[in-house]
Amino acid sequence: MSITNELQATIEQMVQRGKGILAADESHPTIAKRFAAIDVEATPESRCAYRTLLFTAPGIEDFISAVIEFEETLAQSAGDRALPEVLAQRGIVPGIKVDKGKGPLALSPGDLITYGLDGLAERLAQYKRQGARFAKWREVYSISDCNPTQLGIAANAEMLARYAAVCQEQGVAPIVEPEVLIDGDHSLTRCAEVTEAVQKEIFHALYRHRVVLEHIILKPNMVLPGKDHADRASAEEIAEETLRVLRRTVPTAVPSINFLSGGMNPEESTANLNAMNAGFPQAPWLLSFSYGRALQQPVLQAWQGRAENAAAAQRALLKRARLNGLAQRGEYQSSMESQD
Ligand code: 13P
Repeated sequence: MSITNELQATIEQMVQRGKGILAADESHPTIAKRFAAIDVEATPESRCAYRTLLFTAPGIEDFISAVIEFEETLAQSAGDRALPEVLAQRGIVPGIKVDKGKGPLALSPGDLITYGLDGLAERLAQYKRQGARFAKWREVYSISDCNPTQLGIAANAEMLARYAAVCQEQGVAPIVEPEVLIDGDHSLTRCAEVTEAVQKEIFHALYRHRVVLEHIILKPNMVLPGKDHADRASAEEIAEETLRVLRRTVPTAVPSINFLSGGMNPEESTANLNAMNAGFPQAPWLLSFSYGRALQQPVLQAWQGRAENAAAAQRALLKRARLNGLAQRGEYQSSMESQD
């Protein structure tokens, strides 16, 4: 198969009505933090048991089209089957987080930058042999009175575009993830202003680097007030502001926008996605989810690290996947939260 056909086939399988993406790609320190909250020690075995539970949850393939994995998971197995193969056999596309985390951007206080471009083509070739068909890279923008700076916005856009170009050259579909953080007391308007500047710069950079927009998925933040801001915003306001920014910045050639949950609670992230799809059914892209915490929080709570809780934990995942699948169609109602 040509690289173009390969990318097209991957995107078509990932972008489906009523379905979204499960982000299960927590790095070792992040999963250790999630496990610590339920008093579970993070070891290769406990991480494997947990991710096996996620990937084998009955029924999720009806609402989950793809899963983002961490490098370690690609090499782990459930019985005699590699975990990426477990997903593939259920019709779920396995993918891989390829960035190596963030740090400060030199000489630009308050700005962040993500590492991991060196050797990326070779790593992608190896991940592909292990079954990964798409990749994810996250750039992070922290809002303050003076951040992100124009330099920060430009440097981060350049990283995302170079990553996406390397992925496409290797026949791996790139998820482009710019996350404007929810931390802080900024207003919804300030988040909108920053998100718009960030997205504009990213699409300029993708164009400069010859990235084929039909073969990417955008994974942005929703436009929200900071978590310490005095006023909360309604799902309808969030939907309207988010789509205003995206319409101004994201070309319609992009097939799908899959939001990150970024610290919203599970119910909020479902209600906000639903408000977008119910209020703006003519949006030119599929509007869906690529949630980590918002899908997994109830699963971890139900699991508590005990094998006897695995079935209840899987039901918790299926419930959130199903409700977000409905939100993708604009058919979710909050009264559904109380049904199992
Ligand atoms: P959250 O949905 O928990 O923000 O995670 C999504 C993700 O993949 C972050 O990189």
